[in-house]
Amino acid sequence: MEIMRTELSFANLSELQTELLAVLAVDTQTSKGADARPEPVLLTYDAAILAAVSPAFASGEFNAGANETLLLHAPVGVKASRLLVVGLGPKSKATVQSVRNAAGTAVRFAKPRNIRELALALPESVVQPFNGCARAAVEGAFIGDFDPDTYRSDRKDRSLQSFTLAAPSAVDQPAVQTQFQEGVIVGESQNFARSLVNEPGNKLTPTILGQRAGQMAEQLGLKCAIFSTDKLRDLKMGAFLSVAQGSAEPPALIVLRYDPPGVNDGPVLALVGKGITFDTGGISLKPADNMEKMKYDMAGGAAMLGAMRAIALLKPKVRVIGIVCAAENMPDGKAQKPGDIQIAMPLAPSKAGKAIEIINTDAEGRLVLADGITYARQLGATHIIDAATLTGACVVALGMVNAGVFSNDEDTYEKFTTGLAVSGEKFWRLPVGDEYAEMIKSDIGDIKNTGGRWGGAITAAEFLRAFAEDTPWIHLDIAGVAWVEEAKPYIAKGPSGIAVRSVLEWVRSFESHR
Ligand code: BES
Ligand code: MN
Ligand code: ZN
Repeated sequence: MEIMRTELSFANLSELQTELLAVLAVDTQTSKGADARPEPVLLTYDAAILAAVSPAFASGEFNAGANETLLLHAPVGVKASRLLVVGLGPKSKATVQSVRNAAGTAVRFAKPRNIRELALALPESVVQPFNGCARAAVEGAFIGDFDPDTYRSDRKDRSLQSFTLAAPSAVDQPAVQTQFQEGVIVGESQNFARSLVNEPGNKLTPTILGQRAGQMAEQLGLKCAIFSTDKLRDLKMGAFLSVAQGSAEPPALIVLRYDPPGVNDGPVLALVGKGITFDTGGISLKPADNMEKMKYDMAGGAAMLGAMRAIALLKPKVRVIGIVCAAENMPDGKAQKPGDIQIAMPLAPSKAGKAIEIINTDAEGRLVLADGITYARQLGATHIIDAATLTGACVVALGMVNAGVFSNDEDTYEKFTTGLAVSGEKFWRLPVGDEYAEMIKSDIGDIKNTGGRWGGAITAAEFLRAFAEDTPWIHLDIAGVAWVEEAKPYIAKGPSGIAVRSVLEWVRSFESHR
């Protein structure tokens, strides 16, 4: 995919020479009742642009609904070839997230029409804070620019060549410049994660995922080590290895380190991602219907790699370790079986690892993550966040709107939720607790890898909590939201890139500790 050039402009809107100038509008209607009509208002003071849209607004055919669009050609007194009005919806409900989506909508309007150049005008008021909107608009443009059809033999790359964010000159220009650059970094990092998730299982094996992570790390100056079977044996990662043993593809333990110069104390954060490059279920084989989608079972790992990319570029003053546990879950003569006992990685070589009774080989994500979490603790992590497409039960509970979040520590959870105001991503907390731990006690060993029918997302989290022990920990179950099932005006059907932004904000929230 061609790289989208980005530019920040403080020029007068009508002076902008571009193929398509997008301007935002809100619906200001306040009255309710049978005769109430939408009252669209354009968010600009530019007289020429206001004049150009006024007949269309007066006609009543545009209501400024969220992501509703209106196109005008050759507007008089405006240098842009076309004007696109994008609705934010009712003024009272417009948020930074509405701006992010509107920017994506503008980009996705342009792409199929072969328009390769877009400028988006951002109003100073209506949605606060302005700086947050500037960042969100750039992110939204990158999100909208992504399409998954990379393997089409006649693919025409319709990604944008250039995106200009047009901001009013009265704003704090250096601050907006900073937010703009952050938007570029975060948007590109989210698309980096999405491009990994989009790859099918035969094109992105654990080994290849390791290589992709390694290339990214090398380019951006992160320390990187990619381990496989031998090292997993040295570390006694019996849970992780038990998943990999059924596949001809060797596993990959991807370890990235961000160590900012001069930061020698304070927290050490670990981002642990589930990297199952394909999940057949193993011997507890999944049904054929929709199994092809299980190529996205590495979306948690990809999100952590995306977050590490953004961290490498934004350089927060806090140490971060990125760990992705990559394997393929396959049925085979060597595959593990229900009833097998696996010994998880011990926290120290002198200690005993937990004995896991495998009830269902399809509950493999928690197995690889258990060892990933223990490894993070062994490396000195003071706080851990994991992301995983872990359970169908989480999709049953929260649908495809919210992802699940679980935690064993209120302060750490608080930091995560505070960041959601910036990231705009939707997470909903579900509980953990000792009563749930009862549900995964094993008769023969320490712990079972499934807890029966009820509370499946919670017992999965409970399994991970048993390995986080007293280390402050957050678990993100992104099974329902890592894949966009139906295209929206601002995002293609396919990988969403969920959690990159929220994990990044969580990491940045630890900077204030210093
Ligand atoms: N990767 C799946 C979870 C999943 C389901 C992700 C749907 C995305 C969409 C996971 O490895 C899995 O198979 N979980 C099982 C656990 C069960 C066997 C306890 C599930 O949710 O059915
Ligand atoms: Mn599974
Ligand atoms: Zn899985």
